Amino acid sequence: MLRGDRIWVGTCENGPVELLPSMSNRHGLIAGATGTGKTVSLKVLAESFSDLGVPVFLSDIKGDLSGMVKPGARSESLDRRLVSCGAVPENFVYKNYPTVFWDVYGEQGHPVRATVEQMGPLLLSRMLSLNETQSGVMNILFRVARNENYDLCDLQDLKAMLVHVGENAKEYTLNYGNVSVASVGAIQRAVAVLEDQGGDTFFGEPALSIDDWLRVAKNEDGTEQGVINILSADRLFNNPTMYSTFLLWMLTALYDRLPERGDAEKPLIVFFFDEAHLLFNNCSRALMEKIEQVVRLIRSKGVGVFFITQSPADIPMTVLGQLGNRIQHALRAYTPLDQKAVKVAAQTFRANPAFDTEEAITTLKTGEALISFLDEHGAPGVVERAMILPPQSFMGAITPEERGQVLQESPLYGVYDDPVQRESAWEKLNKKKEEPPAAPVPRFLLVNGVLRQVVPAEQAREFVQYNGCLWPIL
Ligand SMILES: Nc1ncnc2c1ncn2[C@@H]1O[C@H](COP(=O)(O)OP(=O)(O)OP(=O)(O)O)[C@@H](O)[C@H]1O
Ligand SMILES: [Mg+2]
Repeated sequence: MLRGDRIWVGTCENGPVELLPSMSNRHGLIAGATGTGKTVSLKVLAESFSDLGVPVFLSDIKGDLSGMVKPGARSESLDRRLVSCGAVPENFVYKNYPTVFWDVYGEQGHPVRATVEQMGPLLLSRMLSLNETQSGVMNILFRVARNENYDLCDLQDLKAMLVHVGENAKEYTLNYGNVSVASVGAIQRAVAVLEDQGGDTFFGEPALSIDDWLRVAKNEDGTEQGVINILSADRLFNNPTMYSTFLLWMLTALYDRLPERGDAEKPLIVFFFDEAHLLFNNCSRALMEKIEQVVRLIRSKGVGVFFITQSPADIPMTVLGQLGNRIQHALRAYTPLDQKAVKVAAQTFRANPAFDTEEAITTLKTGEALISFLDEHGAPGVVERAMILPPQSFMGAITPEERGQVLQESPLYGVYDDPVQRESAWEKLNKKKEEPPAAPVPRFLLVNGVLRQVVPAEQAREFVQYNGCLWPIL
């Protein structure tokens, strides 16, 4: 919750532990074993950003973030927690938040769509798990489409374009580099798999306008709250490659769309990525570099990114080093591998002489965490052991009926719900096939019983009418 213009996350022995909104574009990490309180900590942060007027994006894998649409309920255990945090239970406000649901499959929220073109060859190759040679062909396909004006909107367009490139492989190999028919075949098979996994609903139009994630809701009292965008990802999560590629696309799209902003009092939008380790699994080097680069650069555009995962060891060092704000919940240390993960987690903190970081990580209670946030100079604060506040909205999932109601009342109702088809690569290539092949240009014409040669217009002595055209002849 907010305390003045700071985000009060929890309380340690020395008092409140607060995140500075101006430092939240220096990114963050929420880690901890399952059931230790990561999702609740995320909610506490997301609610505070919303109250600051900052829109938020969350990926919801278990459905337990959907409760943000209704107020939390006071209970004895929450009262006890509030008291241990130094808050007065009677004054604690339980409230709901302006929420918009999204779903790549269009089932539990507004459909999120992107065109094949927006996704681009690098991310698409990752989504299709292509090898280097196949990715090269995908690159060529995109270049051909651009040069020959074939718009790539949906998977139908991509498939039509694959056939086109495959049929003209020889010609394109000469002009663009090797297009092997075997690679085209492999890509076609991968596209079929993606289609079965629901990729056909994701690719198409109307494509998401990123501005719709930057919305602010006006309250009756004139105050503003950032809209909380929740991506229902329970189904998407079953397809980890698609999940991670989608999240990366989002960040890239946002990066491309936003102007440089420099340091500001508060961020423009904050992202929370649950199960973040999936982003980095089976990553090609090119893609890994891309992730690092986007995370590094997006900061200056006012975007904060918080990764949520079990252990900091799940995140590559180069990315971990960029996550300035840390909330570490309990980790188990049963196996040597666990113990190593605890060590790694402890080493990422600036030690507090009052306790042993490593030992504390293994003894934290549910909803308790080690916290280190960046100070106003951007330096990591000394680690504190803090009890996390409860969220102000409802902890847990909502019913399908409640979700249906939120969708109906959504400010974006009807904007994205129905797909739109326009003339793109598939339509154009089909039309081309239907057109009768152009009549071959004659080299000679029989004019008044004399064979005359057809020549370029500037060499013509005269023109004759033949087959509905004027022909230049010698
Ligand atoms: N700050 C808190 N205030 C009140 N209750 C809390 C808090 N943190 C955790 N809890 C309680 O602990 C439960 C588990 O927390 P949470 O769902 O956040 O764990 P998690 O780390 O996200 O687990 P998983 O890895 O399985 O997703 C919550 O449902 C809630 O009852
Ligand atoms: Mg969770």
